[in-house]
Formats: sequence, structure tokens, C-alpha cells
Amino acid sequence: MPLPGPHYSLTAKTLHWITAAAVIVMVPLGLYMVRRGAATNFDNLTNTLYSAHKLIGFLLLWVVAARILNRLRGAPPPAETLTPLERVASSAVHHLLYLLLPIVPLLGWAGVSAYGARDVFGWFSLPPLLPESSAGDAILAIHGVAALTLAALAVLHIGGALMHGFIKRDGVMNRMIGWWPLRR
Ligand code: HEM
Repeated sequence: MPLPGPHYSLTAKTLHWITAAAVIVMVPLGLYMVRRGAATNFDNLTNTLYSAHKLIGFLLLWVVAARILNRLRGAPPPAETLTPLERVASSAVHHLLYLLLPIVPLLGWAGVSAYGARDVFGWFSLPPLLPESSAGDAILAIHGVAALTLAALAVLHIGGALMHGFIKRDGVMNRMIGWWPLRR
């Protein structure tokens, strides 16, 4: 049975859910590994967690690039059930998410490049985005603040989606979760 009303393409939905899963893993992973590093003076597991964080974040950057290019090709119009305030708020949150989604991993990549910590699991090194310098610590601190801002926006975004799904029940949430038909 087709979904009622306009909804996102299968490509947009797939990129959305890969991004969502990665951010949900990356924020707690980043917070935990930093604290574990301080508590254990970087034991083997901490270094493995850092490598996982670097690899997932680096791969996510390209998913985000594909997602932004896909979004620039168009999207369904805002749902008619949105109040003017919801329209402004959701648009602001979506724009900020699209801004921070590439900035956060780019800052992480720039930070490890400047710091001289591009190694991933001892398998390979990420390509350098910047030359090594004393700026690594500062860039990684900004990366942490930007990541927490991204997490706060994601919480607002999820809250809005759940409000539409379970309180207003106006079909807005279904625009991103139905898996058929494959195209609008
Ligand atoms: C969307 C993707 C990413 C998210 C959501 C994210 C999130 C975070 C968070 C929440 C922290 C903890 C900050 C703190 O406690 O102060 C962190 C730390 C860190 N992240 Fe990421 N990160 C992402 C991508 C990356 C990438 C691509 C790299 C490197 C290639 C990276 C490298 C690091 C490093 C090295 C730290 C530790 C900083 C320190 O030791 O002070 N991150 N990240």
C-alpha cells in the first residue's frame, strides 16, 4: 500500500538513518573514550575506541556529503499540518543540523591531523587535513563543543519527530520511516 502524501525518497531515508545511527553511537563513544583515556592513561581499549571513533567519523563525513548533495536535489514540501512556529523551528533545526553534520567530523579530522594522531587501529593513517602543529588540542576542544551542540540539536529534532508521531499523529514522522514506495 503506498504511503499517503509526499515523503522522502528511499535514498534520503537511507542516508538519514545511517547518519542518525552514527551520531547516536559517536557522541557517547567520544564522551566515554575521552574520560577513559584520562582515567587509564590510554590503555589498549581506549586506543581501540579512539580508532573506532576516528574511522566511523571519517566514513560518516562522506555519507553526510552524499546526504547534503541529495538534499540539494530537492525534498518534499513541509507538511501542511505544521503551525507557522513549527515550520520556522523545524527549518532552523534542520539547517543547523546540516551545518554541524559536516563541521563536527571535519573538526575531528583537522584536530587529529594537527595533533599527529591520524593512526587507525595500526592499520593505516587518515590523510592529513592540516600539518602537525600545537593547534591540535584547541581544534579537538572545539570539536567536542560542536559535537555536544549537534547532540542537543538531535535531541530537539527527535523530540519534534516523536511529538508529531505520537501526539499530533499527523503523518509527519512517517515521511521519514516508511520504506515504500521506493520513490515519491
Ligand atoms: C559526527 C561525527 C562525530 C561526532 C558526533 C563526534 C563526537 C565526539 C564527542 C562527543 C567527543 C567528546 C568530546 C569531549 O568529551 O570533550 C569527541 C572527541 C573526539 N573526537 Fe569526535 N566526533 C565525530 C567525528 C570525529 C572524527 C571524524 C574524528 C577524527 C578523524 C574525531 C576525533 C575525535 C578525537 C581525537 C576526540 C578526543 C578529543 C580529546 O581527546 O580531547 N571525531 N568526539
